Amino acid sequence: MSDGLSAEEKRSTRTALSRRARDFVTLVGCFSFILLLMWITGAVGLIEVIAAILVVVSVATAIFVGTASVLPLSPRLAVEPLSTTPKTPESAILLDALPLPAFEVDDDQRIVTMNEEAEFILRLDGRVNPRASTVIRSPGLLSAIENAIETGTVEPMTVEVESGPDETWRAHVSRPGRAKRTLVVLEDLTPVRRAARARSDFLANASHELRTPLTALSGFIETMRGPAKDDKDSWDRFLAIMAGETERMSRLIADLLSLSRIESSEHVSPREREEFRHIVSDATHAFSAIAAEKGVNLVVKSDEGPLPVIAHRDEMIQVVENLVSNALKYSKAGGQVTLSFGMAPGMADARIKAAQSWASSERMTLLPAAGRPGTQERAIWMRVEDQGPGIEREHLPRLGERFYRADQSRGGKITGTGLGLAIVKHIMAHHRGGFSVETRIGEGSAFGVWLPAAREDEPSD
Ligand SMILES: Nc1ncnc2c1ncn2[C@@H]1O[C@H](COP(=O)(O)OP(=O)(O)OP(=O)(O)O)[C@@H](O)[C@H]1O
Ligand SMILES: [Mg+2]
Repeated sequence: MSDGLSAEEKRSTRTALSRRARDFVTLVGCFSFILLLMWITGAVGLIEVIAAILVVVSVATAIFVGTASVLPLSPRLAVEPLSTTPKTPESAILLDALPLPAFEVDDDQRIVTMNEEAEFILRLDGRVNPRASTVIRSPGLLSAIENAIETGTVEPMTVEVESGPDETWRAHVSRPGRAKRTLVVLEDLTPVRRAARARSDFLANASHELRTPLTALSGFIETMRGPAKDDKDSWDRFLAIMAGETERMSRLIADLLSLSRIESSEHVSPREREEFRHIVSDATHAFSAIAAEKGVNLVVKSDEGPLPVIAHRDEMIQVVENLVSNALKYSKAGGQVTLSFGMAPGMADARIKAAQSWASSERMTLLPAAGRPGTQERAIWMRVEDQGPGIEREHLPRLGERFYRADQSRGGKITGTGLGLAIVKHIMAHHRGGFSVETRIGEGSAFGVWLPAAREDEPSD
């Protein structure tokens, strides 16, 4: 174990001591020499000389011992040299290595060290070692810190902190070992909470959507078995409504199944080489009759030449169907729905073709394409444009969320479950494609999708 002095300090202590000893010997020697001369010349007697020498030696000894004792002879007396440049505490280096936001609070409840992540969250605005209570707004976390300081408890505590309407953190407060500081590590629970909420919203929505037609069905069955038992004329009307409700229910179940199928196959990339033109014609041919019945003009136009894609055929058909069925659903008699598609030299051009055609419109990218960065790959685009009511700006970011229906707030009579666009979004993500919307209130909406075209050398399985 070290005695607390460095080699340099020991050396300077020894030098100072020998200098004192030399001064002592010189002083006593000179004084004795003068007294001896005085005794030889007979100025003083021998007894006086001896007495004077003894006095000088004892005074000099007292001075020597006194001055020597203030020199750093032992570690107890050594004065720690003051460091002028503060060293980076070791704990700060360790905090920086942590992948989570973390900071330390000293026993005066001041935040003394933190890593970059914590600095970003605590927003100190240049304040140095601020008091925890001026930075942390959660009373739960503050009292956990206080408690750790007061009790010196080593047991880690966890506190949940709501830092915003949709932001939750879990704070782990601990006082490791004999540390004189309290360590706070923050864990972001927001994504976990959001996923849990989305799951429970989904279940609530799905069961609500299934319960509505079921309630209608059981109501009509009751009526037909009870009050309308003998009123056979009204049965036809009831049965037509019941058939509609049953159809609605089976459509919803089909959509839910298709969503879960797409989700479960999300990690399996599409492999088949398909001609996009055939996909569109297969998807649209059933819509001519529906469009004619509604008095809507359905126009399909495309670029010349082959449009090869590596795609999951049934899924891409669903994309076209969902977008065209929405466009027809929200069109009035006399309106026009235009479906256009083609090939573009790159993903960015395809995106412009698909969803940026109108000069003044509200636009929102619902899914950015996950293209290979830096590569210019040819892309297929498709745009479905209608002359319907358009969609208010505030709804745009939520289109593509399961069960989200913009026209519910408009008190619209048009039915739907709000799963169509969610399915489109999922399928386009599965195909490394993009999805976007463009709308003008009172004039119409346009939904666009784009995805990489198949390369010449890209074989299909
Ligand atoms: N072409 C459009 N014009 C106006 N609003 C639209 C259009 N397409 C979609 N929307 C709005 O977006 C919402 C979500 O569309 P989505 O296709 O997901 O659901 P839906 O059509 O209501 O039900 P379904 O699950 O039967 O398709 C719709 O409820 C509607 O408010
Ligand atoms: Mg729809």
